[in-house]
Amino acid sequence: MKAILCTAYGPPEVLQLAELPVPEPGKGQVRIRMRATAVTYSDCFVRGLAIKPVLRVLIRLVFGWRRPRRGVLGIIVAGEIDRIGEGVEGFRVGEPVFGLDGWGAGASAEYKLMKAKGVLVRKPENLTWRDAAAIPYGGLLALAFLRRGGIAAGQRVLIYGASGATGTSAVQLARHFGAHVTGVCSGRNADLVRSLGADAVIDYTTHDFSSMSDRYDLIYAAVGRRYRPPSEETFRRVLAPGGRYVTVDGWNPKLTREGMAELRDLAEAGTLRPVIDRCYPLAELADAHRYVETRRKRRNVVIDIP
Ligand SMILES: NC(=O)c1ccc[n+]([C@@H]2O[C@H](COP(=O)([O-])OP(=O)(O)OC[C@H]3O[C@@H](n4cnc5c(N)ncnc54)[C@H](OP(=O)(O)O)[C@@H]3O)[C@@H](O)[C@H]2O)c1
Repeated sequence: MKAILCTAYGPPEVLQLAELPVPEPGKGQVRIRMRATAVTYSDCFVRGLAIKPVLRVLIRLVFGWRRPRRGVLGIIVAGEIDRIGEGVEGFRVGEPVFGLDGWGAGASAEYKLMKAKGVLVRKPENLTWRDAAAIPYGGLLALAFLRRGGIAAGQRVLIYGASGATGTSAVQLARHFGAHVTGVCSGRNADLVRSLGADAVIDYTTHDFSSMSDRYDLIYAAVGRRYRPPSEETFRRVLAPGGRYVTVDGWNPKLTREGMAELRDLAEAGTLRPVIDRCYPLAELADAHRYVETRRKRRNVVIDIP
């Protein structure tokens, strides 16, 4: 099978097209004929190891010393079940599925193995493969963080970084939960964020939300420290009494199959719209990584696997 190997930690050029054996599913695993995946911030983080040297040692111990032990990166799955391992129930050969495999990785390839009990659910018919690849990462993060923040109907919610993968999902989900949503993004993304259901949009390049009179019951900072968002203190200044602040950097949520099924149902009903910025063929994965690394991507970057 064709796959993109991560040959070392380093710049996107370390990603190289390779021919690998098609893997056989073991007990409790399914094999997926991949149709699309997405390049996420997490892939670029593992490949580039762009962190303090002392933390680099820790990451190498966890992910592999000289190069990522998994070899093939990519955590977003969209494809058809192609073979079923021993003891697997609930999936059939030919079934279209989508999901996320954070520890398994290996999605930048024509075939991928995954635990059948992992974050994997049936893909609805109204989603294309590209759509399906655009939902799990941002959707699961947004769902987990909004729930952690105690999202509820009638709240005033501020989504900071509303144009990214998790930001665009958070705007839609907060609206779905009945909140009044204010999205913060740059002016070039204002129409997009409004079209996803934000009641108000603040352009952070021209307006400082923290100097306005509005107060929020929940603030979700959907871009992490690397993107240089305002300080926690700045966010807390605009919280209403009893309001809560959550940041995408603040916690590692457990992403669940139940969460994935919830997102699937919302997408099937048309409530959660997959939003895509650019699509690349598998062979151009390095270019997709280069683009994601700019930190200016809007929404999701999808990879077609023919
Ligand atoms: N906690 C966890 O387990 C976990 C797991 C994975 C990832 N993460 C975090 O999730 C974040 C990545 O999320 P993502 O993939 O959704 O991001 P993303 O799509 O890469 O975000 C890109 C967007 O961020 C906006 N942006 C960049 N700098 C900004 C700033 N200073 N203020 C406001 N907006 C800004 C850009 O829009 P504009 O041009 O409009 O500014 C762009 O549309 C990372 O920070 C990562 O640390 C956390």
